[in-house]
Amino acid sequence: MIRLYNVSKTYSKSRTKAVDDLTLEIKSGEIFGFLGPNGAGKSTTIKMLTGILAPDSGTIEIDGVNITDNPVAAKSLLGFVPDNHEIYDTLRGVEYLNFIGTMYGMSTEQLKQKIDLYADMFDMTEALPNMIGSYSHGMKQKLSVIAAVIHDPKVWVLDEPLTGLDPQSAYRLKQLMRTQADMGNTVFFSSHVIDVVEKVCDRIAIINHGKLVAVDTLDNIRADSSVSLESLFLTVTSDGEHK
Ligand SMILES: Nc1ncnc2c1ncn2[C@@H]1O[C@H](COP(=O)(O)OP(=O)(O)OP(=O)(O)O)[C@@H](O)[C@H]1O
Ligand SMILES: [Mg+2]
Repeated sequence: MIRLYNVSKTYSKSRTKAVDDLTLEIKSGEIFGFLGPNGAGKSTTIKMLTGILAPDSGTIEIDGVNITDNPVAAKSLLGFVPDNHEIYDTLRGVEYLNFIGTMYGMSTEQLKQKIDLYADMFDMTEALPNMIGSYSHGMKQKLSVIAAVIHDPKVWVLDEPLTGLDPQSAYRLKQLMRTQADMGNTVFFSSHVIDVVEKVCDRIAIINHGKLVAVDTLDNIRADSSVSLESLFLTVTSDGEHK
């Protein structure tokens, strides 16, 4: 579960708020899609809820743990896939996964089992013994996905996770999101790709200029045949151009 109460953030030297009074609750067992145009405040929100940036005001709880008051406890419940996939080039893939898994307190046996499972799922078995610096963009992204999910986090946060993945890997990642949600974990991801969001999410929020402009279940959106997710997105983010 993720709770944000009245969260705001302004970058220094900026006159406008990147995130403006955001209140949102995401339940356990839910895949939640966070949509918005470029610069809407998605990554800023994600950086605050993963403890990378401190909010100027407001409260954030990860599975009931306040991330400002108890950052280590909150982060131990999280898995995070950032949008840039910058990871240690001088480690081998398998070393990186062992390092991350050990940090999360996993045993050697558990780690081996999970590394085998995910390497096979994402076609990374041959690449794992090689240096991360030699990986393609997509391979780094897949390693970043595996590292974030290896300990079955209570809350899995992904920033634009499907951009740059081949169709097979994107499909596997969507399946894995559902498996994690079915285990009772929360999956929160940002995207601009309406089709993907429409296919995998239980519920969505749309953010524009740092403000929440819509929150609803996909079932509700589908039930209203006069409104598609695309038209809803265009209407609430159009700043008056789209009718
Ligand atoms: N490090 C930074 N310093 C100053 N301003 C920033 C910084 N990062 C983001 N911003 C500004 O904050 C606002 C929100 O940016 P953010 O990166 O959160 O948007 P986003 O929704 O993730 O966009 P995108 O779809 O392009 O990834 C934008 O106006 C952006 O210019
Ligand atoms: Mg972003």
